[in-house]
Formats: sequence, C-alpha cells, structure tokens
Amino acid sequence: MINNNKKEIPDILKKEDITVLGIETSCDETACAVVKNGREVLSNVILSQIDIHKLYGGVVPEIASRNHVEAIEKVADKALQESGKTFDEIDIIAVTYGAGLVGALLVGVSFAKGLAQTTNKPLIAVNHIEAHICANYLTNPQLTPPFLCLLASGGHTAIVKIKGYTHYEILASTVDDAVGEAFDKVARVLGYPYPGGPNIDKFAKSGKNIYKLPNVVIKNGNFSYSGLKTAVINTLHNYQQKGLMVNKEDMCASFTHAAIDGLVERCQFFLKQHNLKKVAVAGGVAANSYLRQKVKEIEYVDVYLPERVYCTDNAAMVASIGYFLFKENKDIASLDLNAAPTLKLRGKKPQ
Ligand code: KG4
Ligand code: ZN
Repeated sequence: MINNNKKEIPDILKKEDITVLGIETSCDETACAVVKNGREVLSNVILSQIDIHKLYGGVVPEIASRNHVEAIEKVADKALQESGKTFDEIDIIAVTYGAGLVGALLVGVSFAKGLAQTTNKPLIAVNHIEAHICANYLTNPQLTPPFLCLLASGGHTAIVKIKGYTHYEILASTVDDAVGEAFDKVARVLGYPYPGGPNIDKFAKSGKNIYKLPNVVIKNGNFSYSGLKTAVINTLHNYQQKGLMVNKEDMCASFTHAAIDGLVERCQFFLKQHNLKKVAVAGGVAANSYLRQKVKEIEYVDVYLPERVYCTDNAAMVASIGYFLFKENKDIASLDLNAAPTLKLRGKKPQ
C-alpha cells in the first residue's frame, strides 16, 4: 500500500520542535511515551505485566497479547495527558514492529496504524533493538555519535559501533543465547522468580565470586552464553551429588562476573581498536549494578549510562529512534506494516 502520509513530511521537517508518540508492545510491557526532538521525555507510561507472567515462570505470549489489547488505549491516553500535549500536537507516531512476540507486536502495530490512518500522521516502523540504543540520548542530552555501545538485552548481545543515529556496525555478538536470557535461565535454576535478572543482581551484591565458570568470549572474539549456563547447572549438580549446597549469593556473584567481565573487556579492546572516546550501554541488562560499575571503571573515555527506567522496555526509546529515523527519511511505514518477530539490528555482522 502507498504511504498516505508522505505529503505531510516536508512541513513537519521545517518545524523547530518535532513531537513523537512512541508505542511499545513487543513483550510484556504496554508502553507509550511522548518525546520532543528525540531527547526530551514529556511523558513515559509503562504498564508492566510482570506480576501476571510471574505465575508461569516466564512470558506467556497469548496472555501478553490479550493484556496489551486491554491496556493500549488507556496507556496512550495517559501518556498524552501526562505530556501536556493534545493529539493534534503530535507530529509523528513511532511503533515497535520487531523483534518480539508476534501477537504482542501486532497489538501495538495495529493501534499505531489506526491512529496514523485516522489522523494522517506519519508512521515510523521501529526496530526494538535500535530503540534500546536510543535510551542513551534520553539520559545524556550531550551524547552524539560516534560511540561504542554495549547492547545487553534479553534477546540480543552485541558490541556495536554507533556511526550515526541510525547507522551501526556490529563488532561482536553472541553466537547462541543472549546475556539477559542467561540471567533468566540461571535465576530459574537457582529458584528465583521471573524475571531473573533483577534477582541475580540483588543477591550477587551479598555474594563472593568464588565458583570457577567459563569465559564468555570465544576464540573468534564473539560471545557464547550457553556454555556458561551449562557450567552453572553442572556446578549445582556436582555439589548436590556430594550432598552439599551451592551458596546461592556466591553463585549469583560468580555468574554475574563471568557474564559481564568478558563483555566489558571486549568493549575496552574495540574502544582502542576504533579509537573511540565514548562508551554507552543499552538493553535490560544495562540496568545491572555490576555491569554499570565495570563500565564506569573503563579509563580514558567518557562513559554514558541510561537511567534504569530507560534500560528496560519503554516507549520513550521508541519515540527517540522514531525521531532520528524520520529526520533521515528512513523506515517511514505504509499502512500495510506488519509485525517482524525476528527482526535483526541493521549493520555489518562480525566475521
Ligand atoms: O532489553 P530487554 O527489554 O530484552 C529485550 O529487549 O530483548 O531486557 C530484558 C532482560 C531480561 O533478561 C531481564 O532479566 C534483564 O533484561 N534484566 C537484568 C536486570 N534488569 C533486567 N539483568 C541483570 N540485572 C538487572 N538488574
Ligand atoms: Zn527490550
């Protein structure tokens, strides 16, 4: 279908301030936000379904979709109300169309398309992973590319050179599980409820790094997390067979060190190799206390950490990337936009 909004674009581009409504429903958070010029958050409403999915030990896709359907309109109204803007004052609508759960994504995409069609506003199709990177611009108004970004989320793990606001080069990435996935799986075997990452973070603080676990950096410089997860399980079994118990806090600390140290070391390597002077972090695992501390300790570069609320899923980051894409005339969607559950980060892949 032809984009029926395009005729409005030159007029919006002439405006001094561009206001974006962001919509995010890729997993278990129904979120809407209003952001000015990609950086200034006017409102950020997040309705989490964690308490519902906790009962099942993880996200149940069908339940997530149904809850998004019930919540989306109320969340959008609240975001507008809190922003102090009327819907007429919104210039662009940006929606996450991938990666994520197909049914959950479709709720946000359908809602956004309905709004775009009835109001004739441009619609931007947002990649959730790219949105996570933009969390940095919300907290650090002075941050501009180029910089190095450690992307550590539930579904992705990569070190990315941010060459421009929508222009990336992937320098290293995981060959199997993502770091957040490993946090969640290890939390489950240690008996912590979903989502596991924040629990491991909490208990690691009173534990010691005493269990020997494998390095996640593999021979070609990429990462592997499945071996780390298996090593934790094997350690638990070995102790059980001897009638002993692993100290859970110590295992949380040991796992956290093993999961994070290799990522930070590789960041240091790439900062030097590409002569970059700034490093940022993104994704849910960027909320981890140990990761934040280790990244802060990187010397001779400026370190940027998004506020925790912008690390985990939110729509302010969606509105932010929506703004930058719009400015570069990229990913302006037509009304046949569909969900893309396995969408990848654009950018050259590592060898
Ligand atoms: O980035 P995200 O929204 O996932 C994807 O978009 O794929 O983040 C969710 C992940 C989960 O794996 C969760 O356990 C992890 O982020 N997470 C944490 C912390 N907070 C959230 N992991 C470690 N420490 C935390 N404080
Ligand atoms: Zn996410």
